[in-house]
Amino acid sequence: GMSEPQIIVIFGASGDLTWRKLVPALYKLRREGRIAPETTIVGVARRDWSHDYFREQMRKGMEEIYGGVEPEELWSDFVKGLFYCSGNIDNPQSYQKLNTFLSELDRQRGTRGNRMFYLSVAPNFFPEAIKQLGTARMLDDSYKHRLVIEKPFGRDLASAKSLNAVVGKYCVEEQIYRIDHYLGKETVQNLLVFRFANTIFEPLWNRRYVDHVQITVAETVGVEDRAGYYESSGALRDMLQNHLMQLFCLTAMEAPNSMDADSIRTEKVKVLQATRLSDVHNLERSAIRGQYSSGWMKGKPVPGYREEPGVDINSTTPTYVATKFIVDNWRWQGVPFYLRTGKRMPKKVSEISIHFRDVPSRMFQSASQQINANILTMRIQPNEGISLHFDVKMPGAEFRTRSVDMDFSYGSFGIEAKSDAYDRLFLDCMMCDQTLFTRGDEVEAAWQIVTPALSVWDLPSNPSLIPKYEAGTWEPVEAELLINQDGRHWRRL
Ligand code: BG6
Repeated sequence: GMSEPQIIVIFGASGDLTWRKLVPALYKLRREGRIAPETTIVGVARRDWSHDYFREQMRKGMEEIYGGVEPEELWSDFVKGLFYCSGNIDNPQSYQKLNTFLSELDRQRGTRGNRMFYLSVAPNFFPEAIKQLGTARMLDDSYKHRLVIEKPFGRDLASAKSLNAVVGKYCVEEQIYRIDHYLGKETVQNLLVFRFANTIFEPLWNRRYVDHVQITVAETVGVEDRAGYYESSGALRDMLQNHLMQLFCLTAMEAPNSMDADSIRTEKVKVLQATRLSDVHNLERSAIRGQYSSGWMKGKPVPGYREEPGVDINSTTPTYVATKFIVDNWRWQGVPFYLRTGKRMPKKVSEISIHFRDVPSRMFQSASQQINANILTMRIQPNEGISLHFDVKMPGAEFRTRSVDMDFSYGSFGIEAKSDAYDRLFLDCMMCDQTLFTRGDEVEAAWQIVTPALSVWDLPSNPSLIPKYEAGTWEPVEAELLINQDGRHWRRL
């Protein structure tokens, strides 16, 4: 189906996200005929831009990222629905002005009072923006008014709770779309299908057959030009609490009663509530942080995190984090989940690997007969796909075994599995489908789990205490130990 005509109001429209992701995603949807031609976009930011200047900026962005705006005629029609309205986040008059402009656009464009307010501003402005929108009665209609909140949703349990309280004061949960762009990734959504539309693996998906699970999101990029945000965030807040924990939820949760948004989100909350860091009294046994020092990437020297522009020279912000989770429920008792993510790793790769138990008797064990446990990997990106790793006998008179992969690759569909998720998320929000957005209690449950680590790491401490890893290498030794203590190893990727 096609979405109903509506106005998408982007707060923070002068920021990168707008031209890099949001507007291109909307144009893509328009090109695919997924959204109504009446769809209208209003950028809001402090700067005094004209509609035309805003349109020009968006065009430049499209050119920079996609090499153009093909087809040209469609773009000229699309930009007729692009507007700009300057305003201040904390100024009530700006909201009056915006509201009047939106009603005018409703008449002009036929958007029928449908609004999506997209908060793409610095997170410390979220509460103010919501309060102002609410006070200006712009969120009153729970059917027509939707609120999209970019990450991060809070910076710990307390702040997430207070943000939820602000949201709750002006909106009902059905209006709220908390973004986690990982949920928009094709391969992430496929986790649900893989688990609950197939009968082969689900019977094995538990403590009887699974030894442990590893979830990895490795990036090659460093902090780039985002020190301003990243310095107060770090790998645990930036990646693990949201993206990795979503992957975790979809891997570990029980089958939902149905595929509707609330059934799925209820199961995610349930598994989060059963989850904890393995040993909060000995943090080094359950959560490890690290920070990249200078090193080499693709034959080029790169600076360490503390030498990056905007970063404190004594910064203790982690750029790497690894955790060991225990899930106290029937399915997963005794099966640890190891999660890790880092910047400036040797490779960009995100995957979930299910490590099955060893065979009960080692009848093939000898030097030339190494038996490896079966591993099922779900590659989120790149080379999206699923592989099952198992041992076979090598051809020949000798009895030798070797590991092989049974491989499904998204590439075989001949269409790219898009990992750029914003178009999907926009469309769902326009269609009022909350499945791929996090619910209030879910965010809080996720924060709850990592809080013991945050409360220690946030204390002012000796900067030499944070473990280091060289840019372009895998984790710090401390993180090796986190998993080696259990006689296991990180998968070499
Ligand atoms: C963002 C983080 O949410 O996700 C970034 O703020 C990170 O630090 C990015 O680089 C990774 O997303 P993707 O889609 O490239 O895996």
